[in-house]
Amino acid sequence: MFIFVYIYIQLNYFFIRSDMRIALTYNVKKEEQVSIDTHGSIDRPATTSGPAAVASSLKRHDDTYAEWDSWETITALQQAIGLRHDVMMVEANEDAYEMLRSMRPDFVFNIAEGYKGVSREAQIPAMCELLQLPYLGSDPLTLSLCLDKARTKEVLTYHKIPNASFFICDDSSSLNGHALSYPKMVKPLHEGSSKGIYNTSMVHSYTELKDEVERITVRYGQPALVESFLPGREFTVAIMGNGSTTRALPIVEINYDSLPEGVNPIYSFEAKWVWDTPDQPLEIFTCPAKVDPALQRAVETICVDTYRILRCRDWSRIDVRLDEHNTPHIIEVNPLPGILPNEDDNSCFPKAARAAGMSYQELILTVIDISKERWGIL
Ligand SMILES: Nc1ncnc2c1ncn2[C@@H]1O[C@H](COP(=O)(O)OP(=O)(O)O)[C@@H](O)[C@H]1O
Ligand SMILES: [Mg+2]
Repeated sequence: MFIFVYIYIQLNYFFIRSDMRIALTYNVKKEEQVSIDTHGSIDRPATTSGPAAVASSLKRHDDTYAEWDSWETITALQQAIGLRHDVMMVEANEDAYEMLRSMRPDFVFNIAEGYKGVSREAQIPAMCELLQLPYLGSDPLTLSLCLDKARTKEVLTYHKIPNASFFICDDSSSLNGHALSYPKMVKPLHEGSSKGIYNTSMVHSYTELKDEVERITVRYGQPALVESFLPGREFTVAIMGNGSTTRALPIVEINYDSLPEGVNPIYSFEAKWVWDTPDQPLEIFTCPAKVDPALQRAVETICVDTYRILRCRDWSRIDVRLDEHNTPHIIEVNPLPGILPNEDDNSCFPKAARAAGMSYQELILTVIDISKERWGIL
């Protein structure tokens, strides 16, 4: 009996455990800053950590760290990667380069959103390139490009991928003289996770437009992106793979009917973080979306084409909305997709993965395998 158990463990070790040394690079939300050693032992502050603290700070509409990950996500990843690999924790701060350099991991699982600037998501991948370390996801160019929503739209327009017409506004005073139709959408040029996008971001008049441009330029210190409003159904599509194996997971639809009465039909910061809580979840997503085969094909095709054009790698999540003729348009591309582990948190990528029959752990281990194959790691 003993010998069988021993053989099973050895086979498991050689054939199932691939045992790479993987560095998990992350930025943790400020409210959840903890002290952590590189092997993942965690020392959390007693009173200010945990999802409840984050939720309560977000409820105060402070979206400063909306893009960064919660401790819950980071530990879930650490646990999932740890099922097959050794995990080393690297906070993506100024010391990250030296840590990666001395650790020399076999692979970097990067979820770090980075510090400041339009290239902030590219910081860890750029370090990995300099150190010649294989890393998960898109390269610095794609990560930076996708964080400039206007530049992304320019590239997509060149390739004839439909997206809302737009202009950029550096200062609300420069709006004078524009003859515009309404409604319009006003967004920060360089943000994600609904940062800066509130219920008021859909504007119906010149006065509202001016107020929103003022809010974005002053509060977020960056230009406002003003887009024509796409009035149709909205979807988000999780994509995995590279080259000919690129595939879309089941489409997620955003249900505006579930939002409180009278609010604008947009997936705003309030919709994502304030009105939808684990205690009182909104039925905000349907996955798989109820779409006829022609629409499913059209949505999947525009997303996979966009993924290829922007040279996304391994995984990304792409937002799409229909115009008044039901033609899909790209809203934006997320090469660092949100991956909240708690089902009640309504995170789109894990939700699409579950609809495809993949647990959270399987999703994480699968994307590592996809990336390993791209890097030619055996
Ligand atoms: N041009 C648009 N027309 C209609 N709705 C839009 C448009 N742009 C954004 N939205 C709405 O605002 C939400 C957030 O915009 P998005 O650019 O995806 O920002 P984020 O990076 O914060 O996710 C979208 O999910 C959608 O509901
Ligand atoms: Mg979005």
